[in-house]
Amino acid sequence: KHFQLLKLDATDSTNQYLKDLLRSENPLDYTVVVAEKQLNGRGQMGTVWYSESSKNLTFSVLRRFDALSVKHQFVLNIAISMAVYDVLEEFLVPNVKIKWPNDIMSGSKKVCGILIENVLKGERVGQSIIGIGLNVNQTDFENLDKASSLKRITGRNFDLDELLQKLLERIWLRLEAIESKTVTQLLPFYEKLLFRKDKPSTFTDGDGEMFMGYIRRVSSSGKLVIELEDRIFKEFDLKQV
Ligand code: BTN
Repeated sequence: KHFQLLKLDATDSTNQYLKDLLRSENPLDYTVVVAEKQLNGRGQMGTVWYSESSKNLTFSVLRRFDALSVKHQFVLNIAISMAVYDVLEEFLVPNVKIKWPNDIMSGSKKVCGILIENVLKGERVGQSIIGIGLNVNQTDFENLDKASSLKRITGRNFDLDELLQKLLERIWLRLEAIESKTVTQLLPFYEKLLFRKDKPSTFTDGDGEMFMGYIRRVSSSGKLVIELEDRIFKEFDLKQV
């Protein structure tokens, strides 16, 4: 009821579709674009998002803001990853965790990727394009060590429309709450759900160097705080292994 749903058979990328729509028309707040198939699905940091046609969910949500400062934009990552987390828990997906900044894991496998692209207006976020790729009924994956789907994990088939409705409901609730909450208020809940928190883990930094450390927390600007060795902390703005 809160959403303007646009269903497409195929498009390059639902994020790109919404971006183009923002340029050419004036789409309503909470416009949602869902595609059966993406021809050029995009992931974080210029990667490609592959998703088998008609088996999974690939969709993007447009949200407009009046007063969200750029400094606080990490609330979006928190809100969206917690919304997906809520729904997967509700569907009894085991051991769901959030891998910073916003991958959703079940056990050690990634089942959902999120690509948030913000359109800035000076110091504020004007619009946010929130793209979600959830692996649902796909069973073949190129790298089974890293990626999986709800079906592979639970053995059940999922109804894509039902799942989308639940996700949109949760996303709506979490997004509505954003403007009244600060990052600092939300962080403790998000941190509790972090993948490999306080466990010895291996990371790769921007130069490809490997190092060992413990995820301890996330800063209010969204940086990952890793303890390298006894009481030596470093903030990272990079991708962990
Ligand atoms: C990642 O984990 O790297 C993020 C993946 C995001 C994929 C979704 S699918 C719907 C939306 N459209 C895109 O092109 N990408 C996002």
